[in-house]
Amino acid sequence: MHNIQSISKDLVYVGSSDRRLALFENVYPIPRGVSYNSYVLLDEKTVLFDTTDASVASQFFENVQAALAGRKLDYVVVHHMEPDHAATLMDLLLRYPETTVVCTAKAAQMMEQFFGGKPANLMAVKEGDTLSLGKHSLVFTMAPMVHWPEVMMTYDATDKVLFSADAFGTFGALSGNIFADEMNFEGEWLNDARRYYTNIVGKYGVQVQNVLKKAATLDIKMICPLHGPVWRSNLEWFIGKHDLWSRYEPEEKGVVIIYGSIYGHTEAAAMRMGTLLAQRGIKNIKAYDASHTHVSELVSECFRASHVVFASSTYNNGIFTPMENLLLDLKAHAWQRRTVALIENGSWAAQSGKLMRAELEQMKDITIVGDTVSLKSAAAPAQEEQLAALADAIANSCKL
Ligand code: FEO
Repeated sequence: MHNIQSISKDLVYVGSSDRRLALFENVYPIPRGVSYNSYVLLDEKTVLFDTTDASVASQFFENVQAALAGRKLDYVVVHHMEPDHAATLMDLLLRYPETTVVCTAKAAQMMEQFFGGKPANLMAVKEGDTLSLGKHSLVFTMAPMVHWPEVMMTYDATDKVLFSADAFGTFGALSGNIFADEMNFEGEWLNDARRYYTNIVGKYGVQVQNVLKKAATLDIKMICPLHGPVWRSNLEWFIGKHDLWSRYEPEEKGVVIIYGSIYGHTEAAAMRMGTLLAQRGIKNIKAYDASHTHVSELVSECFRASHVVFASSTYNNGIFTPMENLLLDLKAHAWQRRTVALIENGSWAAQSGKLMRAELEQMKDITIVGDTVSLKSAAAPAQEEQLAALADAIANSCKL
């Protein structure tokens, strides 16, 4: 059964959601599922904006057929070649062989890489190229590295709709409502939107800033991303979040405590730090066990907050593995411009503080406050004073 929705007079949503996939990109848990968005624009010419992931192919093809209602498909615009959107492109062209593929030259090259050949009808476009469909006029704008180098976006200058590729997307399956203003987005979706952004394109803040600058020159009434809901109101709020994330600015002044603890002693010190910070007026403290919380959530939380306490045991003369994994992931995602504090533990030769510091010093604009509190197996009673001094340093910095 087809399942399409009219978004505006000429625009039809033909995407679908997957709640079966455990790991997006085989790495990010998606307990709330994910949507793969595609759109059909019906004008004198017809256009499909992006194909879809192989997992939802049959639903997608039924949807496209229903949206076209017997008309031929003139164009398919390929914004991004990642297989969660492009895996079904050649299958589409078998069904609609006269369709012209519109994409960047780089995307055409990737088609050869993925499929072993280029589509028969291909129109390579570059920055500012236009395509008239009759009433609607499309303008193509390049968005390299948001999230791959071949990415572009399309602006429908007639209806002022931005087809934004991966940008402004989020994890989370759609349940019937298609617009963000029909959902409790801030309460139920924002964490997944942040986790999606920071982990998928977090590394490419400069490139996202370039796209935001271009977007600022456009009159945008609606944003149609490749994942998650469509935006037709409160656009500034969501664009503002992306502006903060891509400038590596925290969303809020606050402390996240992340600990890597083998038998609970490092955890006890980390939790004592939570109490000491609360006693100093810090609100909304969040603590996470790095062994139990997926690293993608930890990366997301580190992007959200202004201050992070890293507490880790020493393991194999190094940083306890889950914490080491987090620090490497933060470095890979260009995490920067934060204030941090360190707690280490080691029963005979504590190394984790020194090694965590070395990792953090490779990141940009990371300020390490206070003295590292060094535990030997467990916090000694006399170390309450050291923890309190570190809490003072964090709280004072947080209140600046
Ligand atoms: Fe949703 Fe980068 O693909």
